[in-house]
Formats: sequence, C-alpha cells, structure tokens
Amino acid sequence: MNTRNRLGLCTMITTTLSTTTTGVFLALSFVASVEAAEPHRFGKAAMSGEQVYKAVCVTCHGHGVAGAPRAGNRHTWAPLINEGYEDLVGSALTGVRMMPPKGGAPELYDIEVARAVVYMASMAGGKFPEPTDANVKAARLDGEKRQAERLKKAAASRQ
Ligand code: HEC
Repeated sequence: MNTRNRLGLCTMITTTLSTTTTGVFLALSFVASVEAAEPHRFGKAAMSGEQVYKAVCVTCHGHGVAGAPRAGNRHTWAPLINEGYEDLVGSALTGVRMMPPKGGAPELYDIEVARAVVYMASMAGGKFPEPTDANVKAARLDGEKRQAERLKKAAASRQ
C-alpha cells in the first residue's frame, strides 16, 4: 500500500470511528463512492484477489478491525457467503455501514475488488464465480441500489 492509500485509509478509519451519526457516515461513504466510480487508472495492471487482499483488505479483515468479518473465519463468513457473490461484491464496491467503498482504496478497479471478495470467500471455504466485466457491473448496480435505499431511509429518519 502506498502512502496516499495509508493516509486515505487512516482518515477513513478515523472518520468511521469518530462519526456518531449513521447519517453523516452514510453521506460520507456516498460521496466517496461517487468519486470511486471513475478512478484515474491509465496503464495500471489489474491485481489478483490475493494481491488486493494483502494490499488493502487485510488492514481491517486480517484482524476484524471495526467489526470487519475476519478473513478465514468460516463461522463469520458462512452467512455472508450465503448472501451471494453479487450482494457481497456490491457491498464491497459501494461500502456498507463501517465498510468504506472499495475498502477505502478508490483507485482499485471494480474487478480487483471483486477478485478480493472471491479470494476472501475462498479463504472461508466459499466458492464464488470468477469476476467478469458483466457480473461485476451487475454487482455494482445492485450495491448502488441498496445504498440508495439506505440513504433514503437515513434521510427519512432525520426528518
Ligand atoms: C477500513 C476497514 C476495512 C477495509 C480496509 C476493508 N473492509 Fe471490508 N468490511 C469492513 C467492515 C467494518 C465490514 C462489516 C460491515 C458491516 O456489515 O457492518 C466489512 C464487510 C465487508 C464485506 C461483507 C459485506 C456485507 O455484505 O456484509 C465484504 C465482502 C468486504 N468487507 C470486502 C472487503 C474487500 C474486498 C476489501 C479490500 C478491497 C475490504 N473489505 C477492505 C471494513 C473494511
């Protein structure tokens, strides 16, 4: 992970931990996910799931920081794996609760995030399909739809 990633991640974690209202955090993750939609990425070779995991996801998922499901823990991952590939990849791309969009690394390609999800699922004994442009796109749409619903609910609860 380069310095910028680390800084971004630290800010993200600090923001996450210090934010007391869900609404503010949801708003922040929404902004981050909009920025993450079109990262500048010319000439960057896509990493494998294992590489992405080791560069980004391990920070939280290695030890279960901030309530992140710990990688390799079958008990924790079984219900998540049951939610399915599209659901998990969608959440990893757009963020969910304390999970920042793309794990706080917006420069990752969507497909790299999906590969990391497949890698973590496999660490817990799950078998997901190989990410393709089509299934990653479908997962992103699914995640964005669910996130929009969460934002709507959060906004409604503040009125
Ligand atoms: C800053 C800490 C952090 C980083 C870095 C991080 N995650 Fe997470 N992740 C979380 C937390 C916290 C949760 C639990 C969210 C919840 O359910 O409340 C989570 C949950 C998830 C889930 C389950 C989502 C669901 O539907 O319940 C997936 C999949 C996931 N992360 C994938 C990834 C991938 C892939 C990476 C690396 C690209 C990554 N995470 C990096 C904190 C992180």
